[in-house]
Amino acid sequence: MTTTFTTQAQVAEILPFKNAEITIEDIIPSPAEPDLPLPPPSTKPSEILDVDKITPDSHVPRDPRLIRLTGVHPFNVEPPLTALYDEGFLTSPELFYVRNHGPVPQVFDEDIPNWEISIEGLVEKPLVLNFKEILQKYDQITAPITLVCAGNRRKEQNTVRKSKGFSWGPAGLSTALFTGPMMADILRSAKPLRRAKYLCMEGADKLVRGTKDKRRDKDMTDISQPNGFYGTSVKLNWAMDPHRGIMLAHKMNGEDLRPDHGRPLRAVVPGQIGGRSVKWLKKLILTDEPSDNWYHINDNRVLPTMVTPEMSAQDRKWWTDERYAIYELNVNSAVAHPQHEEVLDLTTAGSSYTVKGYAYAGGGRRITKVEISLDRGKSWRLSDIEYAEDKYRDFEGDLFGGKVDMWWRESCFCWSFWSLDIPVPDLEASDAILVRAVDDALSAQPRDMYWSVLGMMNNPWFRVTITKEGNTLKFEHPTHPSKAGGWMERVKKNGGDLLNGTWGERMEGEEPVAPEPVIDINMKKDGVNRQIDLQELKANNSSENPWFVVNGEVYDGTGFLEGHPGGAISITSSAGLDVSEDFLAIHSETAKKMMPDYHIGTLDPASLKALNDKSSSISDELREVFLQSREWTKATLTEKKNVSWDTRIFVFDLEHEKQTLGLPIGQHLMIKVQDPINGEAVIRSYTPMSDTNLIGKMELLVKIYFPGDSIPGGRMTLALDKLPLGSAIDCKGPTGRFEYLGNGRVSISGKERQLRSFKMICGGTGITPVFQVLRAVMQDTQDPTTCTVLYGNRQEEDILCRSDLDAYVALDKEKCNVVHTLTKGSDTWTGRRGRISEQSLAEYAAPEEQSMVLVCGPGAMEKSAREILLAQGWNESDLHFF
Ligand code: MTE
Repeated sequence: MTTTFTTQAQVAEILPFKNAEITIEDIIPSPAEPDLPLPPPSTKPSEILDVDKITPDSHVPRDPRLIRLTGVHPFNVEPPLTALYDEGFLTSPELFYVRNHGPVPQVFDEDIPNWEISIEGLVEKPLVLNFKEILQKYDQITAPITLVCAGNRRKEQNTVRKSKGFSWGPAGLSTALFTGPMMADILRSAKPLRRAKYLCMEGADKLVRGTKDKRRDKDMTDISQPNGFYGTSVKLNWAMDPHRGIMLAHKMNGEDLRPDHGRPLRAVVPGQIGGRSVKWLKKLILTDEPSDNWYHINDNRVLPTMVTPEMSAQDRKWWTDERYAIYELNVNSAVAHPQHEEVLDLTTAGSSYTVKGYAYAGGGRRITKVEISLDRGKSWRLSDIEYAEDKYRDFEGDLFGGKVDMWWRESCFCWSFWSLDIPVPDLEASDAILVRAVDDALSAQPRDMYWSVLGMMNNPWFRVTITKEGNTLKFEHPTHPSKAGGWMERVKKNGGDLLNGTWGERMEGEEPVAPEPVIDINMKKDGVNRQIDLQELKANNSSENPWFVVNGEVYDGTGFLEGHPGGAISITSSAGLDVSEDFLAIHSETAKKMMPDYHIGTLDPASLKALNDKSSSISDELREVFLQSREWTKATLTEKKNVSWDTRIFVFDLEHEKQTLGLPIGQHLMIKVQDPINGEAVIRSYTPMSDTNLIGKMELLVKIYFPGDSIPGGRMTLALDKLPLGSAIDCKGPTGRFEYLGNGRVSISGKERQLRSFKMICGGTGITPVFQVLRAVMQDTQDPTTCTVLYGNRQEEDILCRSDLDAYVALDKEKCNVVHTLTKGSDTWTGRRGRISEQSLAEYAAPEEQSMVLVCGPGAMEKSAREILLAQGWNESDLHFF
């Protein structure tokens, strides 16, 4: 999947982030050079997803396609495997997998030049370097590197037996062009002492209690609590060895690092598990011992397979034995096509099918063979391998501000793509496709899984089963990262022993094996037998007293608010709810063993039923207010009105005709619908157009984002457009920091202020939250607040709510002024033209006492509005972006 770029236009097309520093000269050395696989099209997410708004990561815009593996927070995600593979050799930053142990540090643009790292410990000349110096004083290089989480493919281990880690599918890896200085150059400036043997690295992400680790206490008994900053170490001689390619990076695919990937500076340790590539880097410490950081000791290890979670918890020696620490990746591969649950129609299939996927090895080793078997490993076929990384070895020149300097080194630090055409009749005659990769040290993926307590480095042959159903072949991967299903689960449910050497399937005449006894972890505290009813549970569902229910037992999370690795939000968002399913899916045996400490009683059976039986609670008492902050409630689509070719009003009935919506003015609600294409849930935030006091109904104004040639279209808006009348959608809310209380009073994050005027800046459908506030001001004739609305659109037809806006102006010109501006106004348009600009903001939204600016529109508009308004003298606290 390589591309040759010959024009600046093509470059601009594949690099839509339009980094002004990138020119065609940066990436095209001369027409004679071989083509280079360059970054795929990338769109920087601008939206803070609703699920993130209530977490400490509420400042990080993200791509909703990423599959969350540990609930809402911390952010641990992998991309859908097919989307990842189909992007090609390089992954766009928005699809790149993320592994965060805690909150993402918020780093403001203006602070980046002064971001400092220290180089300390066993050095002759301790140093502090700032970001500017790191860019200016050191040679910059650019290199393609694949990062792989040690947990990649862990769901397979967890299906055999729950490990102490969460479930990754086979997409816990991604590749990018990283730019920055070599680590060795930086370290050399501080003059390492001869005694220095290890390079310890520490990030800026504060984890849990936020104090720094003590130097390692050899008798440390508490392994359940991380404490301090994320950190780890590698050997110093590796960092100094140019063949190992260890670097610092500030750019990824030519763009500044994104927050989730360590902005502004991270370490990148090629060929080793991703856990060594410390993000948000603050400290480099040279020592004579490996890192004493909690994560270095208690994570990233493959303990011997016979060590059970219990044994590992009882004896610290398992964790401090350096032999079990993992650094270099092991050889691994996975199939991307056929996809999980893909169906091949034999009546229309061609004569052959191309099986494709990825393979990687560790420590700079090259993948030398990828082999495929269709007969349980009796015979193998050799697949083709594409070494895209080698194209960079042939390249001489600069790329994204760094020199590509790989011609002299042989180490392979990237994944390779393999493929093989298989005659369809061969697939038809087989029960499974088996894939194994081999590297240049002749390490081959094993047939059998090596299960271990942390479930890391899982690399048995990748197996895709084939089931013939009528005229079709159905393919199944071992697992799916977030959904149930996959052949491993099926086999396990049928009592198969997944570790029996035949993937749990019985040979003819073989008796079924007795299923492995499920270890039942006692999550109850001995002697606790208090009965708790629903009323008492609901009385303790606040963030101060978060009681929650797992398997019918009630737990008080108060004592673990500070200690939970996911932050207090992980507990408070469960308060008052039965969270059995999520809890059991996410938590390890170790976490379960901690539960007795928080166990306070048992929910009586009637209360448990009522808690989970939403239909009965709805019919028993007709709720007056529709929206609920922690439960989804259903509204029914009753009408679609076309406002223009791409804009509709969707009318929904609430649960009953006397119900109020329950949405404070200026706030939003979350909507969940099923994507008709893949059945996945899509969640977005909307502000209804209808008056929030409307009884029994709500109206949403939605612009449909139809797919274009290279744009997939808006998932939510397309799903809504296809929704048949009579269908139900799920709603939850309210959400939002801002509320208009009336008579010029506003509340922002609970703090009240008195205003005399609003400046309202909006574009397109961004009018909706602004309009709620405007309507509230205008409907109350006693409300003295004045409103100036600066509303930008493309054409006159795009102006929404125009008759209402005109009516408000006609009602009271002093109180309401609406200024339209069009970027593509027709010849007859007499109003303003162009975008909302510095000039229009100076004219209509100049700073005033007791005033606030409300802004809602596309990301780019909001960004430039913020910059201009701040430059024109507004304070950040006077601006509210919906
Ligand atoms: N660095 C810091 N400071 N904090 C972290 O949580 N996670 C590590 C590593 N560096 C981590 C970190 C792990 S386990 C992995 S796999 C990689 O970052 C993931 O990098 P990515 O999120 O950019 O893909």
